[in-house]
Amino acid sequence: MGFPNNFLWGGSISAAQIEGAWNEGGKSPVAVDYCTAGSTTGMREIWYLDKNGQRAHQRWEAVGVLPQGAKYQLFDDLHYTNHVASDFYHHYKEDIALMAEMGYTTFNTSISWARIYPYGIKGGINQEGVDFYRNVFEECRKYGMDPVITLYKYDEPVSLNEQYGGWTNRKMIDEFVEFARVCFSEYKDLVNKWMTFNEINIIMPGDDTPKDIAQRNLIYLHHQLVAAAKATIVAHEMDANLKVGAMICGNMAYPLTPDPKDAFARYKKFQDFFCYSADTQVRGEYPSFAQRVWKEWDIDLNISVEDKAILKAGKADFLGFSYYASGVVTTHTTDENDITGGNVLGTVKNPYLEANAWGWQIDPLGFKHFLHIINDRYQVPLFDVENGIGLIEKEDEDGICHDPARIDYHRRHIQAMKEAVEEGVNLFGYTTWGCIDLVSAGTGQMDKKYGFIYVDMDDQGHGDLHRSRKDSFYWYKKVIASNGEDL
Ligand code: BG6
Repeated sequence: MGFPNNFLWGGSISAAQIEGAWNEGGKSPVAVDYCTAGSTTGMREIWYLDKNGQRAHQRWEAVGVLPQGAKYQLFDDLHYTNHVASDFYHHYKEDIALMAEMGYTTFNTSISWARIYPYGIKGGINQEGVDFYRNVFEECRKYGMDPVITLYKYDEPVSLNEQYGGWTNRKMIDEFVEFARVCFSEYKDLVNKWMTFNEINIIMPGDDTPKDIAQRNLIYLHHQLVAAAKATIVAHEMDANLKVGAMICGNMAYPLTPDPKDAFARYKKFQDFFCYSADTQVRGEYPSFAQRVWKEWDIDLNISVEDKAILKAGKADFLGFSYYASGVVTTHTTDENDITGGNVLGTVKNPYLEANAWGWQIDPLGFKHFLHIINDRYQVPLFDVENGIGLIEKEDEDGICHDPARIDYHRRHIQAMKEAVEEGVNLFGYTTWGCIDLVSAGTGQMDKKYGFIYVDMDDQGHGDLHRSRKDSFYWYKKVIASNGEDL
C-alpha cells in the first residue's frame, strides 16, 4: 500500500530563520533581529532600551512586543544570529538546486512581511521584496516543486508593533489582510497552497501564565484567527483554485498516572493548546469549551456578529501542523528533576522515551497516535509541515557531517506516518523542518541544526556559509525516490 503516488515530499524553512540580509533589499527590522542566541539550557533573549533609556533584556516571546515605553535597539557588542542566518537571500538558487537534487516535490517557506510592506500599508509595497519571492518560487517551479507557502511566522515589521502596539490592536487585521492580498495576487500563478499563520496556537496561555498576559494573548489570538479567516476569504474570491490552510503546533501528551485527574488534565491541555485554535479555523467557530477557557481567564472577548461571520466564511481548506516530540501531563507534585524541555513549553519527563540535548522527547508512535487523533477530529486533508530533530553538529575531517541520529529519527517517524496513512489518515504531504541548517526559533542558535544540508555558521558568527550534503541528504533522497518505501 504505502503512500499515495501524489504524496508531497520536501522540506520546510522560514524567512526570518534562514534569509539573513536583515537590512537588505528594502526589508525593515523584525523582532528577532534584536535577539541573541541562547544555549541548550537557555532560550534566546531580546535586548532593548527600557523606558528610562537603560539597556535591558527579556526572554523573547512569539508576540514580539516590548514592555511599554521601551525601544528596539541594537548593541555593538552583541552578536545577532538572524542578521546573516544561513544567508538564503543570496544562496537561494544553490539551496533550491540541492533540494531538487534530493527530489523534493514540495517546499515550505514563509514570506517576510517586512520585505513586502516594510512599514505597513502607509509605507507602500517594496518591489524588491516582491521580486525576491517571485524569483524563489520560479526557481521551485523550474524543478517541478509545488510550494506550500506560509504568510506569517512571528515576523511582522517592528514598525507595526511601534505604530499599533502589536496584535492586541485590531488594525493589525487590516494590515495583515492587505499583505496577504498582495502575496496571493503576485504569486497565484506559482503558488496555490498557502498557510496563514504558523503555529497560531503557540501563544495560548498555559497553567503558569500570569492573568494579564493570558488575557492579552487571547485577544491577540482572536485577532489573528479573524485575520486568517479574512485572508482565506480574499484568496477564495480571487481564485477558486487557491487552497488556504491553518497551521497548528502539534500537541501530543500522556497522563503521568492513571489518576483520572491526570487523564482529564491531559485532555484539557489538548483542548486548550491545540483544539481551541484548530477547531475555530477548521470548523469556523470557537468550540463550546472556549466558554470555559474565557471564564478561567476572566475575559469576555465580546466577539461581534461580524467576526463570527468571518470565521464561518473563512474556514481552512486543510490542516497543517508541526510534530516534534511528546510530553507528559500530571496534577501530582513534580520536582525540577522531573521537568524536561519541549517544543515551546517544558514538560514532565517520560521514563519510556529518549530526548535530544534540549530535552525534546522522541516519540514516533506518539506521532502516529497524534495523526489518528486529528484525522478523526477534523476530517480535512492534513499536511505535516514540520518534523525534525535539533542536534549540535560539525563537518567531520572528511568534510561530511555524519548524522545517524537524524536518519534514525526521520526513519522512525516516516515509518509511523506510513502506518497511519495505510490505516486511513488523510495526509497529503510531509516537509521536514529546517531541511537546510538555520537559526533556531526558540534558542536563536545556529549550533542547533536540523538540516539535511549543512551550513557552515555557528552561534558566534564563525563560518563561511558553505553548504555540504550530510549523510541524511542521501538517505532522504532515497526515501523520496522510493515514495517512502526504502527507509
Ligand atoms: C517550530 C517552529 O515550533 O519549532 C520553528 O515553527 C522552529 O520555527 C521549530 O524552528 C524548532 O524549534 P527550535 O526552537 O529548535 O528552533
